[in-house]
Amino acid sequence: MRITTLVRAPLTAIEMGSDGVLWPLWVRLSGAHFGPGLRVIGRPVLRVGVGGVLVGGSRVCLVSRRFANPLVVSRPCTFTVSRGGALEIGSECGFSGTVIVARERVTIGDRVLVGANSTIVDTDFHPLRAAVRLEHPTRGARTAPVVIEDDVFIGMGVTVLKGSHLGHGCVVGAGAVVSGTFPPGAIVAGNPARVVRILSFESLGKPEGLR
Ligand SMILES: CC(C)(COP(=O)(O)OP(=O)(O)OC[C@H]1O[C@@H](n2cnc3c(N)ncnc32)[C@H](O)[C@@H]1OP(=O)(O)O)[C@@H](O)C(=O)NCCC(=O)NCCS
Repeated sequence: MRITTLVRAPLTAIEMGSDGVLWPLWVRLSGAHFGPGLRVIGRPVLRVGVGGVLVGGSRVCLVSRRFANPLVVSRPCTFTVSRGGALEIGSECGFSGTVIVARERVTIGDRVLVGANSTIVDTDFHPLRAAVRLEHPTRGARTAPVVIEDDVFIGMGVTVLKGSHLGHGCVVGAGAVVSGTFPPGAIVAGNPARVVRILSFESLGKPEGLR
């Protein structure tokens, strides 16, 4: 056994204890409801406003610990649901250092994988006109629901903006800025994200390695 493994053993034991018991309890106390088999690696930040809903299916995985992912998770998974908003997540989804803000509604299907440090928002946060911002910095900001269908794979460092709709099995390239509607099986990349090719219908099955 390596000496570093021995030295790290107490820390590993604490991390395993908190991942197995403390952080799942923390998630529940935050007002989120996930199905069975939730895996919580490191402490996520979940905020649910009055009348807001944050629900997830079974076997969802939230990774918030820095070195739990070789790409290095630079921030905890941070899901914010505004008053009266909704964030719905399907089953068997995985998130690493993902930030999601649902002021109105963000819907994520089953088996969706979101790469390290990506961001999904359904609002501009501030109104576009300076005069309106002067009256109130956030009132009047535009929002539009985001829909991410089953089997979508979002790469690392991606930003998905308000009103986006990613069809079944879409793949989003690293660093893309997504705005708009993309058809099933589209591989999209760049800023602004554009379709670079379409996956064949047969290859739109379950991602490898998932049950
Ligand atoms: C999106 C991706 C999966 C596409 O892979 P691919 O289908 O093999 O695509 P290719 O490498 O053949 O590239 C196709 C075109 O898209 C462009 N492209 C690919 N990825 C791009 C990206 N992230 N940003 C901008 N353009 C990109 C290529 O330059 C190429 O353009 P061209 O046709 O003008 O030459 C891959 O490029 C990618 O981004 N992988 C990273 C996934 C990731 O983030 N994983 C970490 C998860 S935690």
